[in-house]
Amino acid sequence: MIPPNSPWPPRSVKIGANKMRIGILCSRIRVEEKLLLAELDRRHVSYVKLDDDDIIFNLNEDVHEYDVVLERSIHHSRALYALRALNDAGVPTVNTAEVADVCGDKFKTTQALIKAGVPTPRTRMAFSPASALRAIEELGYPVVLKPAIGSWGRLIAKVNDREAAEALLEHKEILGSYHHSIFYIQEYVPKPYNRDIRAFVVGDECICAIYRTSEHWITNTARGGQAAVCPVTPLLADICVGAAHAVGGGVVAIDVLETTDGRLLINEVNYTMEFRNSIAPTGVDIPARIIDYTLAAARGA
Ligand SMILES: Nc1ncnc2c1ncn2[C@@H]1O[C@H](COP(=O)(O)OP(=O)(O)OP(=O)(O)O)[C@@H](O)[C@H]1O
Ligand SMILES: [Mg+2]
Repeated sequence: MIPPNSPWPPRSVKIGANKMRIGILCSRIRVEEKLLLAELDRRHVSYVKLDDDDIIFNLNEDVHEYDVVLERSIHHSRALYALRALNDAGVPTVNTAEVADVCGDKFKTTQALIKAGVPTPRTRMAFSPASALRAIEELGYPVVLKPAIGSWGRLIAKVNDREAAEALLEHKEILGSYHHSIFYIQEYVPKPYNRDIRAFVVGDECICAIYRTSEHWITNTARGGQAAVCPVTPLLADICVGAAHAVGGGVVAIDVLETTDGRLLINEVNYTMEFRNSIAPTGVDIPARIIDYTLAAARGA
């Protein structure tokens, strides 16, 4: 792999005592990446930024000089292919290609959760508008339709009645890409406290969690949800670590829905987690925990 525009060893960073070679696969440097790089600098660990706009993988004869690569790309498809190439070449990555593959696709996530016996909302898959409508009516209104691949709450839709369902299915079939004709249909889980939970798992530990409260049924902080600390109860820790293991483990952020009768359901698992809004409310140094895990994952470390 040819690191983009960067000599080895990198001149811009100090070589740490441990001599580890860390690659950071990234796109735009967001707040999260700044915090992660600052943490590496603080520990005097050398790293190379692998910009996914510039990087070239020589698939025939690639030499990977990294002990571990931390994936922080904003592009799911790039992350997926890069992680596969790295893992196939024996380079450990955080997270693995397998985890990215499962978490990047809501069908695969749901199936992994069900297989592992982790509670998750009732979900149907259908391939035509007619069968999707039948699936919706079997589940009962309201339902939530989501693109199998997507994030930041984009293009997810709450469908309250048959007329809305028919219109949405027709729009998806005619205007959407082929992904939108693979219908992911989920029961709507009413939120008793106008919130859901975002929990962070690193390895075998649920390190912290926040409530995301919103007047809107979509509670993502990117969409205006307010973050506040959520206590990590044994119940929450168990279900979240179970969900993390179900998708292959690593460093993941988990969306949890509370039900009116006090149960917890796993909504989804994110593999390139955003955490900028969760450090202050929880008081947990999330980037430090990610770097701990990444260094521990390095080969030969
Ligand atoms: N079945 C559901 N019932 C009730 N609320 C839901 C349901 N599915 C999603 N939501 C709400 O919508 C939000 C976004 O949904 P989801 O996390 O599935 O989408 P996303 O686009 O993948 O978001 P992310 O950026 O977290 O990956 C959830 O955090 C939750 O508040
Ligand atoms: Mg989500």
